[in-house]
Amino acid sequence: MAEVIDGKLTSAQIKAEIKIEVENRITQGKKQPHLVAVLIGEDGASMTYVHSKVKDCEEVGFKSGLISRPASATEAEVLQIVDALNANTDVDGFIVQLPLPAHINANKVLQAIDPKKDVDGFHPENVGKMSIGLEGFVPATPYGIMQLLKRYNIETVGKHCVVIGRSNIVGRPMSILMSGNTNPGNCTVTLVHSKTKDLNSYVKAADILIVALGRPEFVDASMVKPGAVIIDVGITRVEDATKKSGYRIAGDVNYASVAEVASFVTPVPGGVGPMTRVALLMNTLKACEMREAAEN
Ligand code: GUN
Repeated sequence: MAEVIDGKLTSAQIKAEIKIEVENRITQGKKQPHLVAVLIGEDGASMTYVHSKVKDCEEVGFKSGLISRPASATEAEVLQIVDALNANTDVDGFIVQLPLPAHINANKVLQAIDPKKDVDGFHPENVGKMSIGLEGFVPATPYGIMQLLKRYNIETVGKHCVVIGRSNIVGRPMSILMSGNTNPGNCTVTLVHSKTKDLNSYVKAADILIVALGRPEFVDASMVKPGAVIIDVGITRVEDATKKSGYRIAGDVNYASVAEVASFVTPVPGGVGPMTRVALLMNTLKACEMREAAEN
């Protein structure tokens, strides 16, 4: 039976560490780290995420802000908000929640963010830094997963890591980080995606399998190598009449099935999700410290 990689517990530990760090900062007369989220439109999942981010900030003693605009906001208006946040010296980091409405060019918006405040790590400068192993901001989900592997002492050196999904937010950065000369890291990495031929043969060969394709319960025990480490990034709302909300959250992995053969597995909920949230806090604290170091 697989050991559970508990993201809820690990994120609570990291939050406690950050809270102490913030208290120490305040004692030393330093500023409160300050994170702002920008939300355009009324997408249900996005609203939930953004409100959790604000709540997380309160928990660790960060200052937080939320700038909301209707889905009818223009690209120029969003760019104006970004410019104002770039210029606001009290704001350490901010995120523009994705997806943006279709009439707004998301790349243009992301590229307008000051890389020093880009705590999502989506700006090309931060993506480039990550790719060549320079210090910058790593996107929250991959950063959170690296923390889990580290804190659970998962052996990664020389292992075959298979990543399913090539999104800019999860799959691709994950493949870069796992192939890096770092610990965790130093894996032989295969990145598979919707156009991969014979996907199952790669999945079956994985010592470490990171699943981020957004298809509920796609991976089951028959597809994985006995003893594999399974990281489930999926969070899809699936209709469920037995729930008060009318839906449940499903991962990309059939947990009960793979738990029979894997060595470690992350549950959904309570695995990668809380780690993504805490990684954003880690990036915000880092942004705050980096700005101070640059000023002194
Ligand atoms: N949408 C889904 N995940 C993310 C994320 O990590 N950051 C932002 N800004 N939008 C998202």
